[in-house]
Amino acid sequence: MILYIKGREKMLKLVFDKKTKAEVVVEFDNNLSEGAKELKKAKLFSGKSGEVFASLNVKREGVIYLGLGSNKKFDGEDVRLAGFKLGKALASNKVTKAHLDLKDVKDVDKFLAHLVEGLLHSNYSFDKYKSKKEDDLVIELSLNGVKKVEHVVTEVTNLVNAVNIAKDFVNTPAIDLYPESYANEIVKLFENSEVEVEVYDKPQLEAMGFKALLAVAEGSDKEPRLVVLKYMPNKETDEHITFVGKGLTYDSGGYALKPAGSMVTMQCDMGGSAAVVGALKAISDNKLPVNVVAVTGLVENMIDGSAYKNGDIVGSLKGSTIEIGNTDAEGRVTLADTLYFAATKLNTTKIVELSTLTGACVVALGTEITGAVSNNDRFYKEVHEAGLRAGELNWRLPITPALEKAVKGEVGDLKNSIPGGAGAITAGIFLTHFVEGKPFVHLDIAGPAFNKARGYYASGATGIGVRTLYELVK
Ligand code: BES
Ligand code: MN
Ligand code: ZN
Repeated sequence: MILYIKGREKMLKLVFDKKTKAEVVVEFDNNLSEGAKELKKAKLFSGKSGEVFASLNVKREGVIYLGLGSNKKFDGEDVRLAGFKLGKALASNKVTKAHLDLKDVKDVDKFLAHLVEGLLHSNYSFDKYKSKKEDDLVIELSLNGVKKVEHVVTEVTNLVNAVNIAKDFVNTPAIDLYPESYANEIVKLFENSEVEVEVYDKPQLEAMGFKALLAVAEGSDKEPRLVVLKYMPNKETDEHITFVGKGLTYDSGGYALKPAGSMVTMQCDMGGSAAVVGALKAISDNKLPVNVVAVTGLVENMIDGSAYKNGDIVGSLKGSTIEIGNTDAEGRVTLADTLYFAATKLNTTKIVELSTLTGACVVALGTEITGAVSNNDRFYKEVHEAGLRAGELNWRLPITPALEKAVKGEVGDLKNSIPGGAGAITAGIFLTHFVEGKPFVHLDIAGPAFNKARGYYASGATGIGVRTLYELVK
């Protein structure tokens, strides 16, 4: 049996039960093979996690040693990273056929899923805007020691494909990806699928009363859209979990204009939106039997004679008024309406929302960790554990009565920009005001959404959140 794994253009092909000439040997540093012991003596290889040593002749025959550290304590992330390193090593060594022996590996289905995930991550590059594309990479990998291979590989392939789709959306510059074009791409993505896509345009949003979202959109020539994705495989009920994503296709800051240096990557401000779209793609492709809805408001934050201003007070779908202390705190203003819509117009049981919301969260937790704010301990625990399984760490920030008070407005009901620090927390508290008591987890992905190359991520978009949401539903 042959299984093809398509990256974007590149390809990884798994061939089962067929011996090839380059042997990949998985090595644990506390239990090295005879060959690896020799290498260790010569200080060429020690078996630590993610280490690769290729010993190949010109015909590309020989052995590739893949280190995984101790067989007592390796976890999913170690295996993903090892898979990534193996993928890069196969490509750079021009190995197109390899055999992978997994018969001594414990919990081999999980191991294979993580290894293949890493291999697939190694295949991603954003070369849409390169006039000369890299050559296609086709690697044939044969396996033994695993039984349920096909199912495992198909699931993880669909998952990484969805992550890559999210990355492509986030990497695409705002000149090409704006509310209307992005909404069209989403419609196209779910043609001939189980997912129903609804797109609301500006006149419809006006009629529905999306005052806060429309205030942010006012400064742009690109009209906003609201996209609702419905995946409802469980016909017995219309109850569902809802994912909400911040969809600022560009955030210039508005009249609180960002300096060029921080504005230049602000096409990534729809990272939350891409995560919920990607998650629906993975969940529906893998046919998970759970009802899920995704809601994302697509808006550009720009400057214009009619743009909203610092000092304005705007209304909202809920009826609450919002004092605009800073037009650059626009994400929460658009989310006020999308969250309230999710909480009250749909039969949602709980809401997870992802957004590139605050620089303060990047200061607090860095570029690797997602910040969380939640009104529900049990639900947060589920989201936290899903993140751990996915290899996407999120960490909850505390809410205090003083911070809850800080969000209150002076002339209006709420402030969008809150002085006094703890900006990642007060932003989350602001959002909680619009979920009408539903179990809610806010994930601030401003840090991890768009970065330099690291671990198994290429530079640029990471597709953060897709895998957490997938694990949560699974
Ligand atoms: N989109 C930004 C947050 C952001 C920062 C995303 C860095 C990705 C990387 C958000 O709209 C923003 O501008 N937030 C302001 C809020 C402030 C004005 C209260 C910020 O963090 O400075
Ligand atoms: Mn902003
Ligand atoms: Zn923003």
